[in-house]
Amino acid sequence: GVGGPGAEAKDSFLNIAHRGASGHAPENTLAAFDKAVKMKADFFELDVQMSKDGHLVVIHDATVDRTTDGTGRVGDLTLKELKRLDAGSWFGPEFAGERIPTLEEVLDRYRGKIGILIEIKNPELYPGIEEKVANALKKRNMHRPNNGKVIVQSFGHDSVKKFHRLLPSVPVGVLLSYGDYRDGVSDEELADFARYADYVNPNQMLVDEDLVRRIHNLGMKITPWTIQTKEEADRMIALGVDGIVTDFPELGYRK
Ligand code: G3P
Ligand code: CA
Repeated sequence: GVGGPGAEAKDSFLNIAHRGASGHAPENTLAAFDKAVKMKADFFELDVQMSKDGHLVVIHDATVDRTTDGTGRVGDLTLKELKRLDAGSWFGPEFAGERIPTLEEVLDRYRGKIGILIEIKNPELYPGIEEKVANALKKRNMHRPNNGKVIVQSFGHDSVKKFHRLLPSVPVGVLLSYGDYRDGVSDEELADFARYADYVNPNQMLVDEDLVRRIHNLGMKITPWTIQTKEEADRMIALGVDGIVTDFPELGYRK
């Protein structure tokens, strides 16, 4: 994002479309990612999990029930079974026929067009998922600095550490849920994150001036989620965060 009128202008401010521009199109589909590109977001975020037969697939929940016309656990279905599902109709009839994308399809389609923030979702369910994500990036040379804006993040901090060891040139972030950190993030925890992470990405309810300052003092960045209103966006920007993750990229323009 480019800075401009309003609070401090910062060229590096990241406007990140959560699960794609998921306020405007069904989350984690090409329609939502295309929309993020069209809206000139800096990045889109996606959630990656694994099919029964070991393919990386882009979907948020551990089951297909909420966002498709099917039922069952993602990890119990083969890629062929997942690809039969309609991942768009639940959001609106005009999105009928949207499919669950594979990570490889997404990387091929958007590499060089927009940054991609990859969340490794439920890593405890998918042993080996870190290697698969690393290999998908390596195959496309997207692990090389300056050759692809990619960040990898997870609520599973061991998964983030593991990924960082596999592909140290790719920036990584730790996600912090409100429930796990409602009593605060300790200096020890932050120092531990700083050993491997470039980003600390908390639920916006955890963010105050002090947390932003402590993260910055350790040389890390902070891109909170999930910003849904102008008021929330303004509060985050005033606190000096490095970007926001939002379903509505129109909230993240700094021009
Ligand atoms: O990027 C942060 C955000 O995606 C984490 O929460 O549940 O939307 O995956 P969730
Ligand atoms: Ca996510």
